[in-house]
Amino acid sequence: MAIVEVKSGVYWVGAVDWNVRHFHGVTYTTHRGTTYNAYLVVGDKYRALVDTVYEPFTDVLVAHLEALGALENLDYVVVNHVEMDHSGALPRIKELSPQAKIYCSPRAVEPIKKHFGSRTDGWDITTVKTGDELDLGGKTIRFIEAPMLHWPDSMFSYIPEEKLLLPNDAFGQHLASSQRFDDEVENSILMDEAAKYYANILLPFNSLVERKLKEIAEMGIEIDTIAPSHGIIWRRDPGQIITAYQKWSTGVETPGRLSPDAVVVFDTMYGSTEKMAEVITEELAILGYRVNLYNIGKSDYSDIIREILEAKAVVVGSPTLNNGILHSMSPLLDALKGLKPKGKIGAAFGSHGWRGGAVSQIAGSLAEGGIEVIGDGLAIPWIPSDDELQECRNLARELDKVLKAKGQ
Ligand code: FEO
Repeated sequence: MAIVEVKSGVYWVGAVDWNVRHFHGVTYTTHRGTTYNAYLVVGDKYRALVDTVYEPFTDVLVAHLEALGALENLDYVVVNHVEMDHSGALPRIKELSPQAKIYCSPRAVEPIKKHFGSRTDGWDITTVKTGDELDLGGKTIRFIEAPMLHWPDSMFSYIPEEKLLLPNDAFGQHLASSQRFDDEVENSILMDEAAKYYANILLPFNSLVERKLKEIAEMGIEIDTIAPSHGIIWRRDPGQIITAYQKWSTGVETPGRLSPDAVVVFDTMYGSTEKMAEVITEELAILGYRVNLYNIGKSDYSDIIREILEAKAVVVGSPTLNNGILHSMSPLLDALKGLKPKGKIGAAFGSHGWRGGAVSQIAGSLAEGGIEVIGDGLAIPWIPSDDELQECRNLARELDKVLKAKGQ
């Protein structure tokens, strides 16, 4: 894709990965691909590259820098984050511009050296903290440490002359596009991908996100463009993504939202747990909730996690096999234990044969994920009778009572 001048003297020089379909192993499906955004900042005296790209896309970055006459005369490379999707091309860039000094957070030094080994011998690495600045002549890069958003080494770069924030992974989305800016793409797709990104990457760090947003607000810095290292650049309305992060990190509802109130997820062996799931879903809908139902065996759990981000209730069911859940449920429950979504009410259900176990295991996993689980869950032997299906409706009503009591 073509080089784009994001702001005066600041160029997008990254790469578009149209075909990647999984990130972080198989844990995150990227149905719409992604981008690796790198930015060249040209001052009156010096040139700095902020972040690089994933190693297989090095030639794209190199071609962009060459086209801008900056391939062999970079003065600085800022490493906002060491994860390989942003630092993979660093050794090649250093070969071409050996004089370039590296600026990064203190926590980035060890992984840079571990990632690139002897290729880092002789590299001039300067560590920075919040408030430190790099003067390029007419352009300043000010550093803001952002540990655990989403790695200990993560930091943001801010260019005050352009009111431009380069926050690396934060505010990003896995969204490949021929376009670079938010006013050039469909907003509902952009926000959906931003929500999926938050849900799958940043959810465990809610309190740190909340604190960082407050800290940036207190700094009083002006921001009219946010250029993350994945996906689309926010220039039409950067406030939109800041507001969304405030909402997602605090669990505070947005009036007028139309995302599902409840997400019901199940797997089934011979249809009994599926029947229970359908009745619970139907009753929640009768009670006025927007509810989505997923068979985990036929669904993508990173998409489900994106829906859970904005839902009030999470209802999970599995039949019992070998005294526990079907293993198809494990990735979702394991992910929830790690992601710890804020302010959710949960319920567990499932059918069993001679002996149960799945329902208590689900309830325990939801609770470990910080979800407030109602009751002991609903376990029904064999095929649910009409009376037992009424118990499923009662579970939905119990959920309704708890939600209403909490004013949700
Ligand atoms: Fe996009 Fe944490 O790397």
